[in-house]
Amino acid sequence: MKLKRILPYAKELLQDVIKEGDTVVDATAGNGHDTLFLAGLVGDQGHVFAFDVQTEAIESTSERLSNAAVRDRVSLILDSHGNVSNYIDKQISAAVFNLGYLPGSNHEVVTRGNSTIQAITSLLDLLKIGGLIVLVVYHGHEGGKQEKDEVISFVQQLPQSFVHVLCYQFLNQENDPPFIIAIEKMKER
Ligand SMILES: C[S@@+](CC[C@H](N)C(=O)[O-])C[C@H]1O[C@@H](n2cnc3c(N)ncnc32)[C@H](O)[C@@H]1O
Repeated sequence: MKLKRILPYAKELLQDVIKEGDTVVDATAGNGHDTLFLAGLVGDQGHVFAFDVQTEAIESTSERLSNAAVRDRVSLILDSHGNVSNYIDKQISAAVFNLGYLPGSNHEVVTRGNSTIQAITSLLDLLKIGGLIVLVVYHGHEGGKQEKDEVISFVQQLPQSFVHVLCYQFLNQENDPPFIIAIEKMKER
């Protein structure tokens, strides 16, 4: 058996937990690849809330969803994922983050530890028991190591009766490859 690669494994984790009709969150829409993947998993009875702070990302995601005829399954929100609780009051089964910058854009707008941690905290309240938050952590860019360290310190201190936290990472690859942090909710706080 081959070790699972990072991006396929992140998708597999989401696929295992998301059922048709579910409500889910893409915390970092970017060019919409994950948003489209989530829209496929929830089906026409489900819903995706997708956040990004850049108009360019929201437009790019909107176009990708329209081309796939699933635009109506998604609420695209031009705001920080730190404000997720202002937009969602339903239980969700999963959320995904791709930390870092929008590929192909100016690298100055990047996710930051503070808002990422704020978003994880709010999403954990919305998450159903057995639900999952998957973070794909890109950390090679400026500020990336700081965000990575902050997020790891935060998730490490979450009580194990509340959540199980997995880190899946290749340790001998060059150029700061991404890794996965997955958070499974075990019970209410
Ligand atoms: C690595 S990219 C996401 C890639 C995306 N998953 C895709 O499929 O193309 C990270 C995205 O997070 C966005 N971002 C940065 N800070 C954010 C915040 N506080 N809230 C929501 N999105 C944010 C950036 O604008 C960027 O588009």
